[in-house]
Order: sequence, then structure tokens, then C-alpha cells
Amino acid sequence: MSQLLFGRTLSFHADPALAGEPQSHDYEERGALVIGDDGRIVWAGARGELPDEHRALAVTDYGDKLISAGFIDAHIHFPQYRMLAAPGNDLLDWLNRFTFPEEGRYAERRHAETAAAVFLDRLIAHGTTSALVFSSVHSVAADALFAAAEARDLAIVTGKTMMDRNAPANVCDDAETGARDTEELISKWHGRGRARYAITPRFAITSSEAQLAVSGALLKAHPDCLMQTHLSEQAGEIAKVAELFPNAKDYTDVYDRFGLLGPTSLFGHSIHLSERECARLAETGSAAVHCPTSNTFLGSGLFDLDLIGRKDRPIGIGLATDVGGGTSYSMLHTIGEARKVAQMKGCRLTALRGLYFSTLGNARLLKLDTEIGSLAPGKFADLVVLDARATPVMAARDDLSETLEDRLFALAMLGDERAVAATYVRGKRWGGG
Ligand code: GUN
Ligand code: ZN
Repeated sequence: MSQLLFGRTLSFHADPALAGEPQSHDYEERGALVIGDDGRIVWAGARGELPDEHRALAVTDYGDKLISAGFIDAHIHFPQYRMLAAPGNDLLDWLNRFTFPEEGRYAERRHAETAAAVFLDRLIAHGTTSALVFSSVHSVAADALFAAAEARDLAIVTGKTMMDRNAPANVCDDAETGARDTEELISKWHGRGRARYAITPRFAITSSEAQLAVSGALLKAHPDCLMQTHLSEQAGEIAKVAELFPNAKDYTDVYDRFGLLGPTSLFGHSIHLSERECARLAETGSAAVHCPTSNTFLGSGLFDLDLIGRKDRPIGIGLATDVGGGTSYSMLHTIGEARKVAQMKGCRLTALRGLYFSTLGNARLLKLDTEIGSLAPGKFADLVVLDARATPVMAARDDLSETLEDRLFALAMLGDERAVAATYVRGKRWGGG
């Protein structure tokens, strides 16, 4: 059934830092959105300009709440869905003591199925309607996650993690089985409904040269798949990579040597990069994914928004929770923490830009922007409805807001899943929210 939503509407068509804030988006104080019976957006704009043909549709009126494209999380770990706030001393300690043992449970299909349902419902409760997800090393877990996403009609991009060394045996594959399982999952899931595949070598420490070579070959054979991994997150990790790959120029060069840089490659963290590394990422069209709550929680460092985004050699920037290194599923909270990190680095991050990253920006990096990421007609109605007055503290602060940026800024700094009034997946409202 076609339907009509009323509310404030916000939709991006460009990065506010590049296009200029007023040109980057459409905002309607009294907006309307028409959703067709196929779950795609038919029309969006000012209520006063709603074409006559849509006026008789059933209306859901969200009043002063904000209707936006659903959030997209560009880096999150499915098998870490319940291990947030594990007190590691640093990244490698956190991986060894908490993360690898927890991920070991995903060898069991039943466990993975139960976890996938909770994980995806949790994303939806936080207004996140798409994500680029690391699954565990086990093929059954990635398969269970794809199936659970399909059951919910969610556009999820994921892949089984490949890791064949420096981790316990129950979370390791080898170059050959990792490649075989990846090929099988790609042929089963990539492009099936809304599912897409991401080739997923975990990071240079847990993949042998043979496995990185296989990862590069997989990417070459499947250039429309994404590639996700971790890059330059912590000092101890970087030192270990230098020890394992003595011939590489630097951490980025390790991946470069195996053909893993490119326009479908997303590198989580990318904090401690040299100018040479930035130039190579820019040249190859690779993207850096900022994970602020994880980076402060694990003590990794402060992402340099201005350095990575330098206009003369632009690198795509994604924004992500990195749960369970990250401490929140909320992209609103993540924007707020990204703002704090920017402040610490002497950079500026507006709420508008944070919301751009969380919607259209991430959609572009995930190569899903013809389908999702804004309210443009033809895209799927994956939506989040946000309440800037969700708590007494937020309502009091909202009374002071005079501009759109100011209202969105308070929403991002103070908001979390309590501010999610509703989430729509392909035009269907989930839960009461
Ligand atoms: N580097 C390799 N694996 C991981 C992971 O699971 N989380 C984070 N934050 N960094 C990693
Ligand atoms: Zn990660």
C-alpha cells in the first residue's frame, strides 16, 4: 500500500564541506514523503507542493520530528555484538583476551542465527538500516547473517573474515579454505536481493602473505564486491605490521602490494597515516572509515578529518560505530563523538556533515547510493524518524535552537536510540520505536 509521511524532512545530495552547507541538502520544515507499494520513494518535498494524486493516501504525521534516510554504519563487527565495553589494555590485548574467544562461538550455526537476529534488530532500533559488517571467520556465521538480513529486507554488506595466523585455531582459516568459502558465499549471496559481499581480510597481522595475495585475487575477480579491512589503528599494531612485513614501505603499502587498494576498498580507522600513505589512498580511490568511539575507547588515536579530507588529494571518509571496539550502536552518538575528536584535533565537524557521512556519504562508499542514502525518488524508503526532543534534557536544549544546524547539533551531541521515533525498512515501519 502506498503511504504518505508528514514531518520535517532532510535529504543530502553532496558533502556539506565540499558543496557548501546550504547547497548540500534539501530541508523542509513542513515536509512530505510518498512511499510506493514497492517500498520505494515516489516523491519528497514541501507539503504545500504535494501533487494532487497523492493527497488521498493514508498519512502518518510525525509533526516536528525529522524524517531522514536511515543511518548507514560503514564498519561494525557482527560477532562482537554483545562484547561492547571489554576492558582491554590496548587493541592487541583486547583482541586476544576478549574478542577472539567471543568470535570463536560463531562456529556454531545456532549461536550465529540467534545472534544475527538480535544484532540486526538492534541496528534497526538505533535507526541503522544498512551496514558494512565484519562477520566471523566461520562461513556459517556469514551465511546466517545474510539470511537474517534477507528476512528483514535489509541492505547489508558483509563477508566472512579471513584470518590465518596470530590468532587461536578456532578463529583461523587458511589461504585456501578462506578463498573457497569466500567464493561460495559470493556466488550464493552477492547481488541476491539487497545483499552484497565484502571481501574481508581482517588485518595484516592475522593474514599471511599467501592470504593477502588470495584476497587481492578475489577482489580482482570480483571488482564489484567491496573490500574491508583495518589500517593504522594503534602504535603497537603498526610496529607489529612493520616486523611482519619488513620489505613494505609502510602499513598501507602492505595492502597495496597485494592489490587491495581501490575504489571499492574501505579501511577502518586509518589514524596514523603518513603523507605518502594518504597520497596512495587518494590515488587509488580508497576510503578511510572514522570510528570515533572505538578509537577513544581503545586509546587508538584521533582521526584527522582535515588531513584525510584534504581537498587537493581527497580520500573518501566514512563514519562508523566499530561495535564492539566502539561503545555505541548509535550513529547519532557516533557523530557527537566524531565532533569531540575533531575538536581535539583542531578540525571542525558540523552536525550536517556528520549526518551526511551517516547517510549519503556512507551509501556512496558502499556503492549503494543509487538505492539508499537520501530521500530521492526511486530510492528505497529506508528511513529514520528522529525526535530532537526525546528526553527532558534534549527538549530543554531544543527550545534554544534557532537554526537547522543548531537543532541537529544538539540532536547529535545529546541523542542516541532514544531519539529514534521510528525506523522504516523498504517502506515498512519496524516496531513502535
Ligand atoms: N583490528 C583487527 N581486528 C579488529 C577488531 O575486531 N576491532 C578493531 N577495532 N580493530 C581490529
Ligand atoms: Zn573493526
